[in-house]
Amino acid sequence: MLSINESRCVNCGACVRACPMGIFQLRKGAVRVGTQRHCILCYHCSAACPRQAIELEGISHEAFYPPKPQAPVQELVRSKRRAIRHFTDKLPEKGQLLSALEGAEYAPSAKNRRPYRWAVLYGREQTVRARDLTVAWSEISGESPELPILAAKGMDLVTCGAACLLVLLIPKDDFRAPVDAAAVMTTTELLLVDQGLATCWAGYFNRACADSPDLRALVGVEEGWTPACSLMVGYPDRERYPNLPYRPLRPVRWVECERTSD
Ligand SMILES: Cc1cc2nc3c(=O)[nH]c(=O)nc-3n(C[C@H](O)[C@H](O)[C@H](O)COP(=O)(O)O)c2cc1C
Repeated sequence: MLSINESRCVNCGACVRACPMGIFQLRKGAVRVGTQRHCILCYHCSAACPRQAIELEGISHEAFYPPKPQAPVQELVRSKRRAIRHFTDKLPEKGQLLSALEGAEYAPSAKNRRPYRWAVLYGREQTVRARDLTVAWSEISGESPELPILAAKGMDLVTCGAACLLVLLIPKDDFRAPVDAAAVMTTTELLLVDQGLATCWAGYFNRACADSPDLRALVGVEEGWTPACSLMVGYPDRERYPNLPYRPLRPVRWVECERTSD
């Protein structure tokens, strides 16, 4: 369970803004933690907190606030790349996007087939349309029922106000393509972040785009193709978080030969 250490908290509201699930609220100038039923354990709350005032039951302060790495690749992966959900209206230049897409052609791909193509929703007009069609798809299909509820509260987890959406398209029946797509999208994201852009994977939009004829038409998804994954891209509207989120290592099982004594 998360809690707020009130002797540290200055009620700045950084956690309220960072939490994608709306678990923190600022009421009458004071931050409160509401029900944590929908918490996804992303720990953006503690990452955003300038006073390290968020606490996690059973975890020491030192473990909950890991040190920031110095090595550049570790810094890019652990700290600079983060799911950003607040963007400015500024449009990234096409050259910047293309530079990352070209770089990502060097990502691994089974038998080097690279069986994908890109569509880019470029500009707020396009991404707002994508957001609205995604919420409409949710209302009609009953899938992701939280989307219309969030939309009514003015919360957007579909495009988060990003100026661009990168959509990675793959042939529908190619069983290897989803893994290739994940590799190329991960690489693209890191290259974009390294160029100073901000990103967030757009799973809600992607799911809707696979299904909704209106979204397929907007993106230009051809017959026999499907979106594998999508990425919001834009400029972040704030500085990066001061801390790393808590990310404990998942279980690791070492499978190796037993040592025989000589
Ligand atoms: C496949 C995939 C789909 C996602 N879809 C969404 C989404 O639709 N909206 C959103 O706000 N975040 C989305 N995310 C972001 C995750 O919530 C985020 O990566 C996770 O909470 C970890 O946070 P981090 O990326 O900052 O480390 C998605 C991430 C992935 C990998």
